[in-house]
Amino acid sequence: MGRRQAAASSWPLLVLLCCIAAGRVLVAGGSFSFEDTFELSCADDHFKTSPDVQTWHLYLDKDAGCGFQTKHRYRFGWFGMKMKLVGGDSAGVVTAFYMCSDKGAAPDRDEVDIEFLGNRSGQPYIIQTNVYKGGVGNREMRHSLWFDPTADFHTYSFLWNTHHLVFFVDKVAIRVFKNGEGGETYFPSDKPMYLFSSIWNADDWATRGGLEKTDWTQSPFISSYKDFAADACQWEDPFPSCVATTTEHWWDQYPAWSLSAAQAQDAAWVRRNLVVYDYCTDLQRFPSMPPECSLRDEQ
Ligand SMILES: *[C@@H]1O[C@H](CO)[C@@H](O)[C@H](O)[C@H]1NC(C)=O
Repeated sequence: MGRRQAAASSWPLLVLLCCIAAGRVLVAGGSFSFEDTFELSCADDHFKTSPDVQTWHLYLDKDAGCGFQTKHRYRFGWFGMKMKLVGGDSAGVVTAFYMCSDKGAAPDRDEVDIEFLGNRSGQPYIIQTNVYKGGVGNREMRHSLWFDPTADFHTYSFLWNTHHLVFFVDKVAIRVFKNGEGGETYFPSDKPMYLFSSIWNADDWATRGGLEKTDWTQSPFISSYKDFAADACQWEDPFPSCVATTTEHWWDQYPAWSLSAAQAQDAAWVRRNLVVYDYCTDLQRFPSMPPECSLRDEQ
């Protein structure tokens, strides 16, 4: 569905460091301060922080969007971000939180996406999720949300281990993508991934299939972030770091291999009430169902 990385420029990180340092406080939010954890991929005038540096804002206008990405890669873990999305008329605007094995668009990349598709004023956002393995995606699901994601911060997170990938909205698992047992599987597990977030213009497809265009008179469009957290295995060469599971890693222990009974109940409620699109039921696109669709729990 097109790349969502903002145009990179070679000097923004320096500018960012200078400006945060020259600003006020250099406080780490938990153990993940912006400057220690991320690299910025836009000019510094499209990125702002709150005075205490705990909240980060990305700006999109007609000239450019903005994004940031972790300095390190991770293989398996739990990754969460609190986000507040562009309010008002956000048609055409996409805010993304995603993992990808590559900083560009390498043709063989693995990628796991959460994308928020903006809408005309007062109309509901849609959250789109997708999974790529070896550069092949086409695993979209779309859900509506049970709250207004522009009114307040909510936590969006990924749980990733060898058994499944779970997309959470606050504590609710909105999607579970399972790894099959051997054989033909479509599950990204080999490549360590960076975490990214970005805001970009996607009015060629995002809102009502591209019918609704971005209203630039409303710009800049601003998405806000705080409290990034990762309980994960940070990748270090050489391979095979992050392969053996150890008992310290809750995200790779037995209880994290499947949903709890309470989580499964919430997930079933989501399936019944909030699914807007599911590639596994799109027979026009997939006359024969992709293999992982059969791994799902009974509906
Ligand atoms: C925007 O709102 C319209 C009307 O409620 C809805 O059909 C559509 O799915 C919404 N979201 C997107 C991303 O188009």
